[in-house]
Amino acid sequence: MSLSDCVQAIIQLLQEHGIVPESAKDVVKTLQVPADQVAALTEECQSLPSVEISKLDLQWVQVLGEGWATPLYGFMREREYLQSLHFGCLVDDCVGDNFRSGVINQSVPIVLPVSTEDKERLLDASSIALNFDGKPVAVLRSPEFFEHRKEERVSRQFGLSHPDHPYIKMINESGDWLCGGDLQVLERITWNDGLDQYRLTPNQLRDRFRELGADAVFAFQLRNPIHNGHALLMQDTRRRLLERGYKNPTLLLHPLGGWTKDDDVPLPVRMEQHKAVLSEGVLDPESTVMAIFPSPMMYAGPTEVQWHCKTRMVAGANFYIVGRDPAGMPHPETKKDIYEPTHGRKVLGMAPGLNSLEIVPFRVAAYNTKLGKMDFFDPEKKDDFLFISGTKMRGFARSGELPPDGFMAPSAWKVLAEFYQKLAAGQQ
Ligand code: ADX
Repeated sequence: MSLSDCVQAIIQLLQEHGIVPESAKDVVKTLQVPADQVAALTEECQSLPSVEISKLDLQWVQVLGEGWATPLYGFMREREYLQSLHFGCLVDDCVGDNFRSGVINQSVPIVLPVSTEDKERLLDASSIALNFDGKPVAVLRSPEFFEHRKEERVSRQFGLSHPDHPYIKMINESGDWLCGGDLQVLERITWNDGLDQYRLTPNQLRDRFRELGADAVFAFQLRNPIHNGHALLMQDTRRRLLERGYKNPTLLLHPLGGWTKDDDVPLPVRMEQHKAVLSEGVLDPESTVMAIFPSPMMYAGPTEVQWHCKTRMVAGANFYIVGRDPAGMPHPETKKDIYEPTHGRKVLGMAPGLNSLEIVPFRVAAYNTKLGKMDFFDPEKKDDFLFISGTKMRGFARSGELPPDGFMAPSAWKVLAEFYQKLAAGQQ
């Protein structure tokens, strides 16, 4: 049992006796059952009605189980769902967690869609086993069913309802009912892709930062390969923190590892690319913790960036870097940015319930052709700057052409170029 798990167990015990220490407010709410109860719960699952969940649902089970969505105790019931959808926050005493008070940021709903047939079948169940690939992974207690009003949900969550937005498409294809309830996760969720050792829970990350003696943790969420523009944001944050007197600022390099859209670079390739960036020394490996964030990507722009930030706050970060168009994507029809590219950082700077960390906002970085390196865009000298979009980058990689010097660490570029060339040759 890790130190954080011990602390959590003690706090839960105190709570059961009505004693709630001030420090309990900072506890990660994990929904994993203790190891000595797994066998009994697995046994119980044999006699429970069950529902088969999708890979996407399983990613949300992992997110909930590891405590990223603290203080949620399971898939949202209607009460939490409405608060999340309408306020972007959970407010006081609504989360069944009597030691918490105040507003807690929860900008994205975490819900379990089920079909009408499943809803009818499970309506009277007091507990439901959640199965993945036929095997129980979790139990949902005291389930509550409510209508999955998809158009209304997506219009609020994404600010648009275009059916070709890739996450909206998945929502539209999912069940017409939502099933909320208290979640108990059996085994730790793993993916057996050779990357599980990077999937650190919030508590494991907190332990790691403590072991490293970090006096400031600055988090960087990403779903793309690291170019030197991204690196500039991280390097600049570290420099500023050192200037402010921190002795050991530590970077949480935190690529998203859940579902991403088809044309994003797959996680294993990104991890290789990130390792190359670290081994070339573009980022300092000594003061960096690279780990995988298990959440699916939603491409919900300023709404989602709050989720990205909240989860890193849960993992113990005190600073959160945000730059151009976080969690954005081109509109499926117009191909223009869905979200105004500065709104993500502006919204994050004002968002309620994220007050235990500081937002570190950046303006857009682009390739400065005069300096031959990535640099913060200066509108006064706009002709000196070259914007290398994802499409342009893919074009370079496929054709074997090199991007301009200083755009990306050469060995990291090589990882990408090989991936795109194999893709073009139909080998990926
Ligand atoms: S995201 O979907 O995870 O936000 P991405 O991996 O592209 O996308 O970006 C990671 C972080 O880097 C986000 O904070 C984003 O705002 C920032 N970022 C990406 N590209 C740039 C850029 N050219 N200039 C400034 N910030 C950027």
